[in-house]
Amino acid sequence: MQFPQALETVLQNLERMRDENSRRPCASRTVLDALKQISSPRKIEIMEGDALSSPKNNLDAEPPSRDYGAASSVAPPKTEKTGKLAAVRTRVCACIKCPNLASSRTQTVFGVGNPDAEIMFVGEAPGADEDKQGEPFVGRAGQLLTKIIKAMGFPREEVYIANVLKCRPDVPAGSFGNRPPTPREMQTCRPYLMEQIDIIRPKVIVALGAVAVEGLLGTRAPMRELRGRWDSFNGTPLMITYHPAYLLRNQSPSEKRKVWEDMMLVLERLAKPISEKQRNYFL
Ligand code: URA
Repeated sequence: MQFPQALETVLQNLERMRDENSRRPCASRTVLDALKQISSPRKIEIMEGDALSSPKNNLDAEPPSRDYGAASSVAPPKTEKTGKLAAVRTRVCACIKCPNLASSRTQTVFGVGNPDAEIMFVGEAPGADEDKQGEPFVGRAGQLLTKIIKAMGFPREEVYIANVLKCRPDVPAGSFGNRPPTPREMQTCRPYLMEQIDIIRPKVIVALGAVAVEGLLGTRAPMRELRGRWDSFNGTPLMITYHPAYLLRNQSPSEKRKVWEDMMLVLERLAKPISEKQRNYFL
C-alpha cells in the first residue's frame, strides 16, 4: 500500500472510532515516535518521491510553494493541477468512509476532463455503467450530457465532469435502478468534490439536478424554482439546470429548451459566441 493510502486508512479508522465512540484509539510510544518523524507534509512529499532520488534532490526539484487562494490571480500550472488531482484521486480510490458503498462498488468514479476546464459539470452519483467503467456520465444520461456539451461547442475532454458522490449508491442485490445518495453519504463525500473544485478553479460550475444542488449548496428546493438563474458556490458562478436523466424521462422539446437556455447563459457568462443556429435549438 502506498503511503498516502495507508495514512488515509489510518485517519478513516480513527474517524470511525470517534463517530462510533466504540473505543479509544491507542498507539505505542514507538509508533508515536515514528509518526512524529513523518508528520510534516513536507516530509510526506519527500517520502512519496522516487525511492532512488535523495531527499536533497527532491527538495531541489520542488518549485517554491505559492499562494493560489481565491484572491490570487496566479493560476497554478496545468501540470500542478494534474498532480494535485491525482493525489486526491488516490485518496478517493482507498476511501472506506461509507463501508456499505466501499464494499458494494466495483470502483470509485473520481472525475474526468481538463484540469484547466472553464466549465465543471457536477452530477449526483455514479450509476451502474459509471461504476463498471470508472468514468462519470458514460451511460444514457451521460451520452445526452456529452451531446449538450458538444452543442455548446466544446469537446467533452475540454470540460470537467464529476459527481457529488464518488461511489455508486448501493442497491439490494438483484434489483434494478439507482437510489439517491443519503444526506450523510453526501456530507461524507463532499470534501473530495470541494478539493476538485479548489484545484480546477472553473469559471462556471453547472449543477445537474436537485441532488447536485443539495450536495453543493446544502439546500433542497424544487428544480423549477432553482434552475435557470445564477447562484454562487464559494464565489464561483453556479448555474443550476435539470439532470440529463430528467430529459430522458421528459422528452418534451420545452424541457430540452429550458436546459439549453441555461447552457446559453453559461456561454454568455464565458463570453463565448453563440450562433443563430445555436440560439434556435429546441424552438
Ligand atoms: N448520473 C449522475 O448524476 N452521474 C453520473 O455519473 C451518471 C449518471
